[in-house]
Amino acid sequence: MARFLLVLLCFIALLGSSLGSSHANGRGEQSLAQINIYETSLALDSSVHIHASPQTLGSQGEDTEWVNVAISNPKPSSDDWVGVFSPAKFDSSACWQTDGKEKAPFICSSPIKYMYPNSVPDYTKTGNVILKFQIINQRADISFALFSGGLWSPKLVGVSNTVAFANPKAPVYPRLALGKNWDEMTVTWTSGYNINEAIPFIEWSAKGLASRRSPAGTITFSRNSMCDVMFGNPARSVGWRDPGFIHTAFLKELWPNREYIYRLGHDLVNGSTIWSKNYTFVSSPYPGQDSLQQVIIFGDMGKGERDGSNEYNDYQPGSLKTTDQIIKDLKNIDIVFHIGDITYSNGYISQWDQFTAQVQPIASTVPYMIASGNHERDWPDTGSFYGGKDSGGECGVPAETMFYFPAENRAKFWYSADYGMFRFCVADTEHDWREGTEQYKFIERCLASVDRKTQPWLIFIAHRVLGYSTNDWYGQEGTFEEPMGRESLQKLWQKYKVDLAFYGHVHNYERTCPIYEDHYSGTFQGTIHVVVGGAGAHLSPFSSLQPKWSLVRDYDFGFVKLTASNHSSLLFEYKKSNNGQVHDSFTISRDYRDVLACAHDSCEPTTSAA
Ligand SMILES: [Fe+2]
Repeated sequence: MARFLLVLLCFIALLGSSLGSSHANGRGEQSLAQINIYETSLALDSSVHIHASPQTLGSQGEDTEWVNVAISNPKPSSDDWVGVFSPAKFDSSACWQTDGKEKAPFICSSPIKYMYPNSVPDYTKTGNVILKFQIINQRADISFALFSGGLWSPKLVGVSNTVAFANPKAPVYPRLALGKNWDEMTVTWTSGYNINEAIPFIEWSAKGLASRRSPAGTITFSRNSMCDVMFGNPARSVGWRDPGFIHTAFLKELWPNREYIYRLGHDLVNGSTIWSKNYTFVSSPYPGQDSLQQVIIFGDMGKGERDGSNEYNDYQPGSLKTTDQIIKDLKNIDIVFHIGDITYSNGYISQWDQFTAQVQPIASTVPYMIASGNHERDWPDTGSFYGGKDSGGECGVPAETMFYFPAENRAKFWYSADYGMFRFCVADTEHDWREGTEQYKFIERCLASVDRKTQPWLIFIAHRVLGYSTNDWYGQEGTFEEPMGRESLQKLWQKYKVDLAFYGHVHNYERTCPIYEDHYSGTFQGTIHVVVGGAGAHLSPFSSLQPKWSLVRDYDFGFVKLTASNHSSLLFEYKKSNNGQVHDSFTISRDYRDVLACAHDSCEPTTSAA
């Protein structure tokens, strides 16, 4: 221990000021990036006591536990903070080879979260406090470290005992996604078991059907998969954390509309089997099936901590509210689309586990379909369409590994998905979409290949606003869109009669296109564009300009629910994350003949917004 503390002179910087300053990423900060660990010094004080309990977590198989951290500090200060470290031993032994320019000795990993004791009354008077941390199973033991000096010049004054989960390698956080065929569901989860230790699989069954096992593949990613360390990249340095092993099983030949029960399993080499608890899902309807189908769509949710950690920036205050409203209504939801800017981990890989834990009640029950955003993909000189640094060096690797989505090539994040009467064409705005590109061809193929007689509801999805938004910065730019968005794609939306186009990136709600009013019927006239990026990250103000095509705007947290009752009626609702109340709604009512009625050449080539 003494040796460990002696080498603990200095911590790696978290590069807060060097992260991307995109106007689209909340306030441009990951809260972990605020800690100036390069300037951290060792100031261990034997009169400081920190005790964490219970010492063993998850003894009943839980993947989430509350831990009490009792602190006694004779010199309390309002800017003291407690970092949660995992692995618990955060000294230089885990450091990677460097070019020798860093200060040494040093540690090489960010805390996974942190909290201010001052959030509890009287701490600065008494120095005594019990902090309650919610801890999830992230495959390694955990310690709690008290720092004085604030985030800018931290001084380590004490470290707690170590706590650990009974089985840190346990399979956790299942997330469902549609496969490439309508009768296929995929299950992806995380564990600490590599293929030489255990064989991963899903055991599943439905009432009246024999139980089956489906094998799972295992993948992971390494520090070397992260993008270049230049520009201050946390993903390859202080933000790196071993992601464990990611398993995906493909459950095939599902009966439509049937409830299945499933559990995650690992057959260990010693002959025993590790099981998760049981989960259930309802399989997809047959494409074109006439039945009630309910879809949730939102972007930019990010994650929040239920114990109040990471409050430096009060980051993403809406995330938990959105998550909780969806969980509350889950029995009335069939599928979820989170359309980019998933975790805002921004290169701090531990946040991916925390996100998958947060959405587990949703993602283990209904397909959780994701799109790629700037915070998943962008990094200079890496082939992203935008050269910003918003991914913190992740370059799409965690998103493409932690979640399944039915793309031909998961590094090219575009795909189509059929769900009953819906066809979703999901674009990837972080790769070129313009005419002549591979992605443009995919978008046209996706839109063109759907039979509207059976799948009348055609939905286009993209992270950045390729259509219309009166968000503040788009207003200042005078574009009211991501440049080259609608110029490239509007003729496709019009030709193939896309009903609705959804975007995130802008953290508010807006429904556009005045030609439709609140309700429209009959012949298709053009696409309704919806910005629904207010699921959690800091809200984006609107421009003072409001062109006539901007019908409804809301500066608040929320999400959209689509309810298809049959082939003729689609209910659109925008709901507030605060209370689940409907704030905006309309119904599209029409029959197949109305879709047929408008041949491409007889339609207006653009909406009145052009
Ligand atoms: Fe974004």
